[in-house]
Amino acid sequence: MDKLVGIDEAIRRYYSQKAVSENLIQAILYSVDAGGKRIRPLILLEILEGFGLQLTDAHFDVAAALEMIHTGSLIHDDLPAMDNDDYRRGRLTNHKKFNEATAILAGDSLFLDPYGLIAEADLSATIKLDLVRELSYASGTFGMVGGQLLDMEGEERQLSLDELELIHANKTGKLLAFPFVAAGIIAELGADQIAALGKAGQLVGLAFQVRDDILDVTATFEEIGKTPQKDLLAEKSTYPSLLGLEKSYEILEDSLNQAQAIFQKLQANQGFDPQRINQVIERLRLNG
Ligand code: IPE
Ligand code: IPE
Ligand code: MG
Ligand code: MG
Ligand code: MG
Repeated sequence: MDKLVGIDEAIRRYYSQKAVSENLIQAILYSVDAGGKRIRPLILLEILEGFGLQLTDAHFDVAAALEMIHTGSLIHDDLPAMDNDDYRRGRLTNHKKFNEATAILAGDSLFLDPYGLIAEADLSATIKLDLVRELSYASGTFGMVGGQLLDMEGEERQLSLDELELIHANKTGKLLAFPFVAAGIIAELGADQIAALGKAGQLVGLAFQVRDDILDVTATFEEIGKTPQKDLLAEKSTYPSLLGLEKSYEILEDSLNQAQAIFQKLQANQGFDPQRINQVIERLRLNG
């Protein structure tokens, strides 16, 4: 089955249960169905296959749970109190299409529902407990949400590179690193291998926000589906604003290369097939 279709079907399966509020589900699916690259769930599925696992509905459920949290983070990130954006994934933001209260609640749902979805997945209790713990740390106070508050506070002033790296690692890096670690948990790898996957995830995670910062400067609305040059106009501290575009491209390249080196090692030592995950990582390169 096509992986993107499988991810969407898993989300739909969850929301096809008898609704408490049809309008809430409509708002949730509006943002889910707007598209998006689905890079986080794809990373999970490609690494699982790289370790020789046959994909099951349960794997798609975990992939879906991750995409749900990510989508919730975008809905909240776009709210007037945060980045105040009108467009996301090529269409009106959730609060513009519906209203602020609905968008806040759709985000709340997308943060909380994934834990029920994972709990019901056909995996061992131990694996599910590990996944729930990792997903909570990656997305909550000690991950994405914490990073988002640092990001908001940082808008008032010029940040140092260390501060910016800390913000990027938390607001974006940890949730992007989750599928790398989750694949290790599901494939029941040893602690060392899971740590190696986590390191690759951190590298790709940081690279991903550096890439997003570069695209804010260089890309068109059609390419990114959101208002370009928002950070630039807001004079936000970003990798390009602090280091310039050329150095930002370099950091992106270097981080992706280092991540691929980790996969090469896993190939040599663990019989991992890195071809598909490398293709996903290749797609993140930008020609500077
Ligand atoms: C955008 O994420 C927000 C960041 C964390 C940089 P994506 O670039 O993955 O957004 P979609 O899912 O493709 O819309
Ligand atoms: C968002 O970073 C990170 C999230 C946790 C959603 P940005 O604010 O740069 O993301 P975009 O550019 O709006 O997608
Ligand atoms: Mg933001
Ligand atoms: Mg934003
Ligand atoms: Mg951005």
